[in-house]
Amino acid sequence: MDASVLLALRDPAGVPFYPIIFQVLYVLTWALHAAFVLLSLGSMGLSLYGSTKGQRDNHWKMLTPHLIQTGKISISILIVLGVAPLLFTQVIYDPNWYVANTLSGMWVFIFIYTLIVGYSMYYWYYYANKGQKSGSTLIGLLAFCILVFAGILMHNFAVTSIMPEQWMQMYAPNGVVDDSGWTFNLEVIRFAFMVSLSIPVVGIFLQNYSKFLSTRVDFDEAYIKYTASLGTKMAVVGLLISAVAFALWMLQIGYLFHPLSLMIVIGVVVLLVMSQMNKNSYITTGVLVVVALLISGMRELIRFDIMSKLGYSIYDYPVNLEIPTIAMFLLTFVVFGFIGVGYLLTMAWKVGKNEGIFDGSKDAIVTKLGNYTLAILVAWMAIYFVWGIAILFNNIL
Ligand code: HEM
Repeated sequence: MDASVLLALRDPAGVPFYPIIFQVLYVLTWALHAAFVLLSLGSMGLSLYGSTKGQRDNHWKMLTPHLIQTGKISISILIVLGVAPLLFTQVIYDPNWYVANTLSGMWVFIFIYTLIVGYSMYYWYYYANKGQKSGSTLIGLLAFCILVFAGILMHNFAVTSIMPEQWMQMYAPNGVVDDSGWTFNLEVIRFAFMVSLSIPVVGIFLQNYSKFLSTRVDFDEAYIKYTASLGTKMAVVGLLISAVAFALWMLQIGYLFHPLSLMIVIGVVVLLVMSQMNKNSYITTGVLVVVALLISGMRELIRFDIMSKLGYSIYDYPVNLEIPTIAMFLLTFVVFGFIGVGYLLTMAWKVGKNEGIFDGSKDAIVTKLGNYTLAILVAWMAIYFVWGIAILFNNIL
């Protein structure tokens, strides 16, 4: 393919800051998106097993609703966190993202409805399970399949976007234009690897769950031990499955001995040992975050290499520095993001550790963080609207 086609598809306005920053942010935010995709699919999948046990098993009677709740919250987080890599990818890889969205236009529409139907059915599953209704497992299974399908569609967009050399063939197979928007590409091993990661992720989550609850006297010892050992088994078996799938994927695309690939393999081995020993699952989670970042980096490396070979380097993207925009974005991300998320996490942690009802207004740190978050939110809205309106009037008057 001629690089001039790709270059012509770039935004003529250029990018507002150095491309490498968008690339780093893409890798970071996609890893966050993936973390919650994996946690939601993993906890949901395991809850389906739990719901087949009904009320007969005391451990699962408690664990299943907790897993369903985890999945339910994770889906909302994964949707919010999916927006960030979407924004970054369309800034530096806009030719890829928009061509993929055009070729697979029908699937893009279907994706939105898939998500709406899948998530609504998840709520149905949640309430059916809560009310001990028969058939709740079936509803859950349907919701699960629909959400996995949403992942397959996402995978199609990602894969189609990195096949520029085949775009023309997809757009006009044998010279006849096909503008139906039904283009669909699947790389089974790549997708299988990504989804398989939900098994170790939910395993390590269960180890954390057990460690977190171990300080509470209202959860009995047997339950704590059961969830920890289930977590260990899932983490170990899941990591082995993912390791095989990863090696096959790397072999298929010729990256098996690339230093980044080898670092991921080492990371997986470290994770295996750590989750098998289960000494401190919080530290294991830290290593998991590093491995997730490496995997996200690997996805980016594959795309970067494909595009560079065709003469498209994001580092050559014309930069049209816009300091106020980037300052607003980074300040929002760092100040508002960290304090707001810190506030929510601190509260969630304290609610979970507390027996009985937790009153946040009586807790000094929670109150302080809550007040800061509120003040920053008000200031943010004032700056955002005043600034936006001022620029708008400045431009049109
Ligand atoms: C249940 C819903 C979802 C699932 C299961 C899911 C799953 C996935 C998976 C498996 C990938 C990796 C595909 C690959 O590299 O082969 C991915 C990538 C991605 N997802 Fe999601 N996703 C979901 C919803 C969303 C939503 C709602 C958004 C945006 C608002 C989003 C944004 C993205 C982006 C931007 C990428 C990277 C695309 C690229 O690199 O070209 N996802 N998702």
